[in-house]
Amino acid sequence: MKIIMLGAPGAGKGTQAQMIAEQYGLPHISTGDIFRANIKNGTDLGKEAKTYMDQGKLVPDELTVRILLDRVAQDDCKNGYVLDGFPRTIPQAEVLDAELTKLGDQIDFAINVDVPDENIIKRMSGRRACLKCGATYHIVHVPPKQEGVCDKCGSELVLRDDDKPETVKNRLSVYHEQTQPLIDYYTKKNVLKTVDGTVPKEDVFKAIISILG
Ligand code: AP5
Ligand code: MG
Repeated sequence: MKIIMLGAPGAGKGTQAQMIAEQYGLPHISTGDIFRANIKNGTDLGKEAKTYMDQGKLVPDELTVRILLDRVAQDDCKNGYVLDGFPRTIPQAEVLDAELTKLGDQIDFAINVDVPDENIIKRMSGRRACLKCGATYHIVHVPPKQEGVCDKCGSELVLRDDDKPETVKNRLSVYHEQTQPLIDYYTKKNVLKTVDGTVPKEDVFKAIISILG
């Protein structure tokens, strides 16, 4: 099963993608997590990506597509994957479709996690992220068992550099301009399903499970 998670920054794509990945035994692939791991390790890719991410802009398509295609060509992706944060532009979606068509394959579901902008800003300041395994928490809504420590891998939790209110506003406007058109794109392909992302994460997950079967 090949699944795409769509939604505004902070809609809960990562939270749900991780739960879907566990439930169905699929790899969870987040381009944002791949970039953040590279920034943490000081790679050239990380240095380049950081200049865009810190401003809330998108990393150029060419670079992002190359990384994603490398990742989905790995062995663990044979039976499918959950893509979180990719595609984010129409050209990215077109490249992914072209690659899948070559393999006689296609995306099965594009899940749109719907959360209005006004809820997003409030969520982001409370988010804490694990840069090692990609797990995400919220100090009020989704707290870790021990403050500041990842439940899954024991690493330190941090506030992401791009979660400052000013950057979040930029990310939201980039989302509306460049990513929201994908909702139409996947609607036309008959794979788009929208879920209400404002309810507790377990209820969002139930709605997704009922779609995926
Ligand atoms: P990325 O890491 O993908 O960030 P994003 O899309 O801005 O999304 P987030 O990770 O911020 O939010 P999320 O939807 O995963 O929400 P989460 O589950 O954490 O990308 C970062 C940057 O990398 C981009 O700005 C860009 O520069 C670059 N980039 C990445 N991919 C790219 C691409 N394809 N092309 C070009 N550039 C790219 O949840 C948010 C918070 O809410 C958490 O605190 C969580 O605990 C809480 N929460 C989750 N669900 C609920 C709920 N139901 N109720 C209450 N709280 C909840
Ligand atoms: Mg995320």
